[in-house]
Amino acid sequence: MKKIDAKQIEILKSDPDIFFEFVQTSDEKSIKYVLGRLGRLSASSIIIQESLFSLLSHRSIQIRVAAAHNVGKFGDANLLPKLISAFESETSTEVRTEIISAIGRMRDHSSLNFLYKTLNDPDPKTVMQAIRGILVFKKDPIVINSLKTLLSHPNEQIQAIIKPLFEGSIATSKLKSKSKEPANYLSNTVVRGDVLEVLAEVADDEIHLTFTSPPYYNARDYSIYESYGEYIAFLKSVFTEIHRVTREGRFLIVNTSPVIVSRFSRSHSSRRYPIPFDIHGFMDEIGWEYIDDIIWLKPEASVKNRNGGFLQHRKPLGYKPNTVTEMLMVYRKKTIRLIDWNMKQYSSEIIEQSLVPDGYETTNVWRIDPKYNKIHSAVFPIELCEKIISYYSFKGDIVFDPFAGSGTLGKAALALGRSFFLTELNEKYFQLMKDSLPPNENMFTDKSFNKIKFISSDDFRNVEK
Ligand SMILES: C[S@@+](CC[C@H](N)C(=O)[O-])C[C@H]1O[C@@H](n2cnc3c(N)ncnc32)[C@H](O)[C@@H]1O
Repeated sequence: MKKIDAKQIEILKSDPDIFFEFVQTSDEKSIKYVLGRLGRLSASSIIIQESLFSLLSHRSIQIRVAAAHNVGKFGDANLLPKLISAFESETSTEVRTEIISAIGRMRDHSSLNFLYKTLNDPDPKTVMQAIRGILVFKKDPIVINSLKTLLSHPNEQIQAIIKPLFEGSIATSKLKSKSKEPANYLSNTVVRGDVLEVLAEVADDEIHLTFTSPPYYNARDYSIYESYGEYIAFLKSVFTEIHRVTREGRFLIVNTSPVIVSRFSRSHSSRRYPIPFDIHGFMDEIGWEYIDDIIWLKPEASVKNRNGGFLQHRKPLGYKPNTVTEMLMVYRKKTIRLIDWNMKQYSSEIIEQSLVPDGYETTNVWRIDPKYNKIHSAVFPIELCEKIISYYSFKGDIVFDPFAGSGTLGKAALALGRSFFLTELNEKYFQLMKDSLPPNENMFTDKSFNKIKFISSDDFRNVEK
C-alpha cells in the first residue's frame, strides 16, 4: 500500500484528474484507505463524483460499499437515477444496503417511489434499510401508512420495527418518571413451600432479577418427577409465573447443564437429558428474549470422571468427555424498550453506587470453582451469585431465587446492598437458611434494611401485600 497522508488526500479531493488516476492505478488497500478518509464531501468536492460512481462497479465489495457511502455524503437528489441503476445491477447485500442508505440520506420525496418498491425485496436487510429511508418522513402520516403492509412481513426483526409504529406507539411514550418502590412484603423474605403456590400470591411486576438453578430432574435426591416431560412442563410453569412477576425489561438467568440419569443395568445405557436446550425451546413463547449464554467452567479435577473406560479401550464411538461446564442462560422480559429505559429509572446516586468495579468478567466463559456444602448437594459458589447480581441489578433491587436451596443468592444479595426473595420446598434446606442467613445482622446499619422473615407458604398467603 502506498503511504498517503492527510495533505495528499486533500489534493486528491480537489483534482478530478489526479483522483481518477489514483483510482485507476492504485491497489485495493490504498483505494479503501483513501475512501475511508475522504471526510465531508460537499458541492466543492463534486468533481470527484464521477470517479466515485466508477468505483461502484469495482470488483471489490468493500470498495463498492465505501464508494456508495461517499456518494451518500452529497445528499443530492439528482444522483437518484444513477444510484437506482447501480442498485439494480448490484448483487451484494452489503453494497445494496449502502446504496439505499445513500438514497435515504437525500431526504427527498423523489426517492420515495424507489424506497416503497424496495419494501418488497426478498432480502430483509435491504427492506430494513428502505424502512430507515422512509422513516425520515415519519411526520408525514401518508408516508408512514405505506409501511402498514409490512405488519404481516414474515421476518421477525421487521415486524418488531413496524408493530410499534401502529400499536399506540409505546416506544415513543414518555418514561414513567421513576419505577415503583421495591415491595416490602417480598424484601428479605424466605418462604417455605412450593414455588408455584408461593408465586400465586405475588403481584405482577415486582421482581428485578431472578437467578436460579432448578432441580436437576431426577439426578439428585431432592427431586422426584414422574417423567422428564413432567419435569420440563413444571419448569415451563415456573418460568411463566416468573415472567409475570418480573418487571418490564428485567432479567432471568437460569443455571442448568445436561444431566445423566444412571442406567438401569449393565445391559442398558445411561440417559443424558439436554435440560438447557429443552428449557430454551419454550422461553421465547413465554415472553423471554434470549440475551446471552455464559459458560461456567470448572476445573476438570472437580467433576465426575467419565473418561475411565475410554482411556483404556480408545475405541471410537465410546468417547465420553468430562463435563466441566454448566450454562447460565440469560433472558430478558420482552419489551420494545431499550435497556437504557431500565437504567433511567434509577437516580444518579443509585447508579453511581451500583457501578461494576474493575476485574469484571470480559468474556462469556467464567472460571469458578464449585462449592461443596455438607447439607446441600448442589449449592452455588457465592462468587457466581455476586457476579450475576452486580452485572444484572442495581442497589436496592429485589433478587429472587425460586429454588433457593441453601440461600446462596440471598447471602450475596445482602452483601451487595440488594434485598432478596427466596422460596424453598424442602424443610431441611429452609432450616439451613434460618441458621445461616445472614451471618451477622449487625453489619446492616442501613435503615432501609428489612429484618429477614422466614415464613411458611400458608402465612405468606396472609401477609399484607
Ligand atoms: C439445585 S438446588 C438450588 C441450590 C441453590 N442454588 C443454592 O445455592 O443452595 C434446587 C433446589 O430447589 C428445591 N426445590 C425443588 N422443587 C421445588 C419447588 N417445587 N419449589 C421450591 N423449591 C423447590 C430443592 O429442594 C433444591 O434445594
